[in-house]
Amino acid sequence: MRILGIESSCDETGIAIYDTEQGLIADQLYSQIELHAQYGGVVPELASRDHVRKIVPLIRQTCEEAGLSLSDLDGVAYTAGPGLVGALLVGSCVGKSLAWALDLPAVEVHHMEGHLMAPLLEADQPAFPFLCLLVSGGHTLLVDVQGLGDYTILGDTLDDAAGEAFDKTAKLLGLPYPGGRYIAELAEKGDATRFQFPRPMMNRPGLAFSFSGLKTHTRVTWEQHQDDPDRDQLKADIAACFQLAVIDTLSKKCLRGIKQTGHTSLVISGGVSANTSLRQQLNAMGRKHHFKTYFPSLKYCTDNGAMIAVAGAMRLQHKDPEQHTLIRAFPRWS
Ligand code: KG4
Ligand code: ZN
Repeated sequence: MRILGIESSCDETGIAIYDTEQGLIADQLYSQIELHAQYGGVVPELASRDHVRKIVPLIRQTCEEAGLSLSDLDGVAYTAGPGLVGALLVGSCVGKSLAWALDLPAVEVHHMEGHLMAPLLEADQPAFPFLCLLVSGGHTLLVDVQGLGDYTILGDTLDDAAGEAFDKTAKLLGLPYPGGRYIAELAEKGDATRFQFPRPMMNRPGLAFSFSGLKTHTRVTWEQHQDDPDRDQLKADIAACFQLAVIDTLSKKCLRGIKQTGHTSLVISGGVSANTSLRQQLNAMGRKHHFKTYFPSLKYCTDNGAMIAVAGAMRLQHKDPEQHTLIRAFPRWS
């Protein structure tokens, strides 16, 4: 079965074809980051218009890359939410219309289920059940995954998502948007022991997260040291301390989740899972506490069409998705 996957929930237009026997056979990604960088964040209306411009040419390119025509497809999967409503509608309109025109099943994919399934694009794949840490720009979730669609959320963030905290800290330090990878680069040159940053929610039981206090602490530290003559080093040290605080918090909650559920596999996915220090710390923790870690490869950590194609393929193979006649988008899909 060959499934076309379409991702357009935010600022990436991602198109891919996943074959249930051969795996991923084509994958195209267009990022709007340059378009939004000058505004310091995603401008929803510009995002929708750019998706409109790019989506059809990218579908053509993806088919060319696979050496297939649209008539070789067996289904169309697209992100139906959550995300920016205008951006989502572009993918939903195109995906649903293609499915109608080709008389194929249409699969509405939840963006976070796409992230959750991204490690299935790798050769070494996790088997159900597993614990999953989903860390993106919009979400920070610890999920008990028993099987496809069988998810229990064990921990959520009370305020900012981890990626959002990275982006806001980057903005504070004058780094480009989206700032996660710039904080990570800067942190390499910093001293993570110079300041003592809080580890939010660690001394409370449970698996909830909160990052807004850490963000405030970072701002206060930055403002208190404005007279520091070596501003570059100050920035790097703050980036390192902030990053370590986030990573420590995420890792320790993962360990709690592993102990609570008894799972022996931990999947880490979403944009922040591209963070090298987070990957290293969780791998080391896994070795010490006897659980195995699974990450998507770096290009599938952030938004892409491949994860939507594989999630759609799983849904079509195992779940018989509901077929209805509406083009739908769910900007807030729980
Ligand atoms: O999953 P994603 O592409 O979009 C959402 O669904 O939100 O995640 C984007 C987020 C941004 O906040 C970005 O700063 C963060 O992932 N990110 C990183 C790194 N690469 C991307 N955060 C920390 N370290 C990185 N290397
Ligand atoms: Zn995402």
